[in-house]
Amino acid sequence: MAIEIIATGRSVPARRVTNDELAKTMETSDEWIRSHTGIGSRHIADDDTATSDLALIAAQRALEMLMEKDPSLGSIEAAALTLDIIVVATASPDFNGFPSVACIVQDKIGAKNAGALDVAAGCTGFAYALGTAAGILTMGKKRKRALVIGAEILTRITNWEDRGTSVLFGDGAGSVILEKTDAPSEGKGKRGFMRSILGADGSGGEYLILRRGGTRNPFKKGEIVEKTPHIEMNGRAVYNFAVKAVTDTIEQLLADEGITVNELARIIPHQANERIVQAAAKRLGIPLEKFYLNIEEYANTSAASIPIALDELVRSGGLKKGDYFMTVGFGAGLTYAGNLFIW
Ligand code: ACO
Repeated sequence: MAIEIIATGRSVPARRVTNDELAKTMETSDEWIRSHTGIGSRHIADDDTATSDLALIAAQRALEMLMEKDPSLGSIEAAALTLDIIVVATASPDFNGFPSVACIVQDKIGAKNAGALDVAAGCTGFAYALGTAAGILTMGKKRKRALVIGAEILTRITNWEDRGTSVLFGDGAGSVILEKTDAPSEGKGKRGFMRSILGADGSGGEYLILRRGGTRNPFKKGEIVEKTPHIEMNGRAVYNFAVKAVTDTIEQLLADEGITVNELARIIPHQANERIVQAAAKRLGIPLEKFYLNIEEYANTSAASIPIALDELVRSGGLKKGDYFMTVGFGAGLTYAGNLFIW
């Protein structure tokens, strides 16, 4: 039995905002943003779009790909009925608490046979959700297919008066469909999900925090709220954590599998800052080209960044059958996670 990725999808808002456009509204420059982060632009959702709207389109794209592979399904609606579980990773859900984005998507695609839950692990959410969904499929004998989505509208919880954080984020969603197949997961010809690391260091929670609006600091009756709850970040502390988390996770996944970095085709890292990836690549002695990067176009889309990148890679034919590839994420919590697959 193997757990394989059989389809992918993505959805990115049409509105593209370049660094130069941001520089017209705040004290920053294309030069600073590019040289400190590798970001050239970000896509920002319209005011009437919620996270589940982006998640829905990403889900539909993956279901379309599933249908191309298995035309006997007949329609997207029929393909959706074959889903057993929907897991959505998000740090910017439609509603603070419930209903979950996963339940909204479940309803809109008509996945009547699927359970649905959200996973909250900041930017690491999608890497966590992959592990969660694979575990759920492994547990249930009858369960076969999982839809896993990373979806965010972080620009709505960004403090636009803080140039240190607001230039970093963008919106989007990406998805994969995981399937439990008869392929071997061990020995010759093995495929699919090989290894998973899910880690956390909760002592760093203050470094990346959405302080207001929850039960710790609820809004009080009569309070005049000047800003919506927004991301507060200690950039330097998160940077240092991220470089170590990416380096250690890659090393550990390779060691667990007993392979060298030369046997790895691609690494899909969370796209937070190109310099984090450069620093990790240098420490590990891995050529930068092994990392798939699209941060220049989309900026940091949090839990959506890995599945958006994966979908681009898959649709451009960047993975060949039998290729080892890895996803590595880090973010709020603080959390980190990685997954090793064979395509
Ligand atoms: N434009 C121009 N200048 C700026 C900007 C800006 N947008 N932002 C900050 N600066 C200035 C600062 O004011 C400071 O000026 P000063 O020296 O006069 O005080 C100077 O640039 C340097 O600022 P630093 O914060 O020290 O810059 P640094 O090199 O550390 O880069 C950055 C900041 C890009 C945020 C970096 O620390 C980083 O990428 N950290 C990791 C962020 C990350 O990965 N977040 C993950 C989020 S994941 C999730 O779960 C949501």
